[in-house]
Amino acid sequence: MTTSLCNALNLQYPIVQAPMAGVSTPQMAAAVTAAGGLGSISVGASTPAQAEKMIAETRALSAGPFNVNVFCHQPVVRNEALESAWIERFNPLFQRYQVALPSGLTEIYQTFHQNEPMLAVLEKMRPAVVSFHFGIPPAEAIGRLKQCGIVTLATATSIYEAQEIADNGIDFIVAQGIEAGGHRGIFHPEENDQQLSTFTLLQAIRKVIDLPVIAAGGVMDGAGIAAMLTLGAAGVQLGTAFVLCPESAANAAYRAALKSEAASRTMMTSAISGRPARCIANAFCAHGEQIARHEVPVYPLTYSLGKAVAAAARAQGEYGYDAQWAGQGAHLAREMPAAELVRRLVAEWQQAAGGVTPVA
Ligand SMILES: Cc1cc2nc3c(=O)[nH]c(=O)nc-3n(C[C@H](O)[C@H](O)[C@H](O)COP(=O)(O)O)c2cc1C
Repeated sequence: MTTSLCNALNLQYPIVQAPMAGVSTPQMAAAVTAAGGLGSISVGASTPAQAEKMIAETRALSAGPFNVNVFCHQPVVRNEALESAWIERFNPLFQRYQVALPSGLTEIYQTFHQNEPMLAVLEKMRPAVVSFHFGIPPAEAIGRLKQCGIVTLATATSIYEAQEIADNGIDFIVAQGIEAGGHRGIFHPEENDQQLSTFTLLQAIRKVIDLPVIAAGGVMDGAGIAAMLTLGAAGVQLGTAFVLCPESAANAAYRAALKSEAASRTMMTSAISGRPARCIANAFCAHGEQIARHEVPVYPLTYSLGKAVAAAARAQGEYGYDAQWAGQGAHLAREMPAAELVRRLVAEWQQAAGGVTPVA
């Protein structure tokens, strides 16, 4: 049952629980790691102090390796006219929910690019793994993490991004297909997106790049794991499959949506955060459908308004403006403790693989 991912981290199973900002928790990551997979937390939406606390909390719950995820989006360039027009567009919604229209958009998260305080926290805390989403940091930061013995992962949505990851000495590529829930890790969302499926992207990367690949997007059960490993993946990364676990921070409305018929329809939208992300098709997605891509301000400025809209709606009992991230396989999500889910996935995978040992 061993793959290069298992060997690099001494894992029992090549199963990564995806980092999910706002959903994954230290409890979830620790449970997955204890069950033999790789648990993850995301500090992309955290300050360095919050990140340090979250890493310490995870470590206190788990003796094994875990992954800490950071966001590497391009530094924000302001565009006052675009931002004002964006705020104004939401005036009717704020009026409906009787909340004052925000006066401006704010940069709610700092990118990991040139983020010395966050890098210092990672150097100090030395998690076994650090993963990058939305791009990769400068070579110096990667080098410093590697000097600490940290294994690095980065999301790619195309072979070009995968090549950049390989060229910069990162250890594993997380191939994220268009099926995936949550934010697409695309480096430059303003550029043409080929929107490859996990199935195709994994094979395309494997054909041209000699670096182990972790498949992410649409894997919901053991048969899916067997399929990805058969195609040459060194591991799989599952996000949506873990959202219903009791260790998840998802709220009751999000859980109810995932368990309902609504989960069979997800949509890619940039309207919530400023970057394309796959969400259960809710009121916010419908609102976003009428908006051209070039009218949307950059991430995470847009997200500051997205969160304000969601909070205003929630206060009136409307949850359809929440970021209910989910992949195309959302209707296959199962509700059970994270460790039990890992055990179930492994049993299904063994059954599907018919005793064949993966070697990627
Ligand atoms: C609720 C949710 C939040 C996510 N947040 C992050 C994140 O903070 N960082 C990250 O690298 N990926 C994030 N992702 C994407 C996952 O890493 C992964 O690519 C995706 O979940 C795989 O597709 P699946 O949801 O079909 O399993 C998120 C996914 C979900 C469902």
